[in-house]
Amino acid sequence: MKRILIAYHSESGATKTIAEYIAQTAKEDQITVLPVEKVETLDYDSVIIGTPNWYGKPAPAVSRFLRARGQELKGLSLAIYFSCMDCYPTEEGEQQGMLIYADGHFRKQTLGQGAKLSSWQKSHTVTSYVANLRAAVGDLPFQSLGLFKGRLDFQRLSWGHALMMRFICLINKGVRPGNYVLPEDITAWSRMLRIE
Ligand SMILES: Cc1cc2nc3c(=O)[nH]c(=O)nc-3n(C[C@H](O)[C@H](O)[C@H](O)COP(=O)(O)O)c2cc1C
Repeated sequence: MKRILIAYHSESGATKTIAEYIAQTAKEDQITVLPVEKVETLDYDSVIIGTPNWYGKPAPAVSRFLRARGQELKGLSLAIYFSCMDCYPTEEGEQQGMLIYADGHFRKQTLGQGAKLSSWQKSHTVTSYVANLRAAVGDLPFQSLGLFKGRLDFQRLSWGHALMMRFICLINKGVRPGNYVLPEDITAWSRMLRIE
């Protein structure tokens, strides 16, 4: 039996819901699901970190956690996922030693070689996600990066964040409120991490 920690930050609940789906997959293991702020010990075999995409980056609470606890995390099997509203896979397989998994919403918008990208698309390619992750947390050896479409619900956001996301929706017809979580894809990624 492996001891697995799923540590997340979540403002409107999507990243938390994804953490709970991952936890349901790991039947044989001892799973702990906690907000990053509540993590004390890192006495686990594996750690899965969940964060919303905030302006292309992990939420500040997650970046802070990874920077502060990086040395302790280095010896563990480590994976990370973003819940986000958009992502454009450009390459398959691995990047920087990480297995990349994009959910069904995002696989449908895989970009071909030489595609002309808008600035929004450029800031939402898998390469951009990996670069922003590295800029935020350095060279932590993640086994895998999962990219899952989450939820946009203005009612669940702070006033300032709701205003910003309404503006993003206005300039980006592809970003629409709704709950887009695909449980089967989360389960598929969990299986790839071999936590069943
Ligand atoms: C402050 C803020 C900034 C965001 N920036 C982006 C962004 O740049 N790209 C994106 O795809 N989604 C962005 N989102 C949307 C969230 O990543 C998405 O709704 C996520 O599923 C929310 O997760 P949560 O419910 O766990 O908070 C942003 C949301 C907030 C609140």
